Amino acid sequence: MNTKHISQTLGTRQKGKINPPQEAECRYALITGASQGLGRCYALELARLGFNTLLVALPGSGLREVAAESRSLGVESIPFETDLCDEKALSALCRHINARYSLCMIINNAGTGGTKLFTTCPPDYLDHILSLNVRVPVLLIRYLLPNLRHAPQGFILNVASMAAFSPVGFKTVYPASKRFILQFSLGLREELRGTGISVSAVAPGPMKTNAEITRRIERQGAFGKLGLLSPEQVAHLSLQGLFRRKAVILPGWSNHINRLLLSLIPTALLVPLISRVIAREINAPAIHRKAVCKPRPAPWWKIGAWASEGTTLLQSLQELSVIS
Ligand SMILES: NC(=O)c1ccc[n+]([C@@H]2O[C@H](COP(=O)([O-])OP(=O)(O)OC[C@H]3O[C@@H](n4cnc5c(N)ncnc54)[C@H](OP(=O)(O)O)[C@@H]3O)[C@@H](O)[C@H]2O)c1
Repeated sequence: MNTKHISQTLGTRQKGKINPPQEAECRYALITGASQGLGRCYALELARLGFNTLLVALPGSGLREVAAESRSLGVESIPFETDLCDEKALSALCRHINARYSLCMIINNAGTGGTKLFTTCPPDYLDHILSLNVRVPVLLIRYLLPNLRHAPQGFILNVASMAAFSPVGFKTVYPASKRFILQFSLGLREELRGTGISVSAVAPGPMKTNAEITRRIERQGAFGKLGLLSPEQVAHLSLQGLFRRKAVILPGWSNHINRLLLSLIPTALLVPLISRVIAREINAPAIHRKAVCKPRPAPWWKIGAWASEGTTLLQSLQELSVIS
């Protein structure tokens, strides 16, 4: 780690600044999915902070250019073009890293999603989401943890999503996979308490990271704008939260509000509501309006708590054209 860069930010605790710990030893931060989108932003932000980086993405994806850009910022940066979903390649990569590099950070960013009808989507599509979003981060941490434990202070950041806070029709496995990441991170954080390794999960809202995701966000209308941030903003805010050792990082005030709304709206109302918006992405058959606007009556003991909030939130969502 380049201590010159770090000393400029140490001890300031100013709003907006990132305060990484000071370490004399030269260690590496590993970032998966670093060729583009949020992962690229993590790579460059960490390079600006003086961290050496190990970058992973699929072959021929522009990863070498990100490594070159990082090196131009004065740090070491090594690209590894590997398919993380290939279990042999994943374990070989981890063996190589453990033999040659000392880690201080793992960022599990590579992830994938999509919007399709569960009943007609190819099983491989589901398998790929489960593999990259669930299996890869778990195994990567398991293989690399012995290495990270040697660092005086170690950091693990797992990229979840705001989707982790509600089931969603037409996405089905994606929000469930991100919920898994959230729960897994909190459990591992507890298990590693007192070891010097801090585990955090970040739950970004929508980010226009590539053409396909941008198209999907735009088809959601006003809903897609809720909590929308640039990947640069999300990378900056998540590293800030990571070094403050936060358990769950919600980037930006709008995502704090969204999280609150998601916890206030009864599931019976929320899931059809969000699913109806998401259905627009694929022109799926509309969900029955009755299911959206007239959820089953709450049991009498919950009516007071739910109904008044639910109605107000419903009205504000209607204003935002979430319900057409
Ligand atoms: N974008 C959003 O709206 C949003 C919202 C909430 C959470 N997130 C989460 O944020 C993370 C980053 O999202 P993003 O939008 O920046 O994604 P992205 O632009 O699609 O980039 C994904 C990265 O993962 C890499 N990758 C994909 N499959 C891989 C594999 N099998 N092995 C190795 N690397 C692989 C890609 O490499 P290649 O370039 O080689 O394909 C790319 O670098 C994901 O976990 C996502 O679920 C995204």
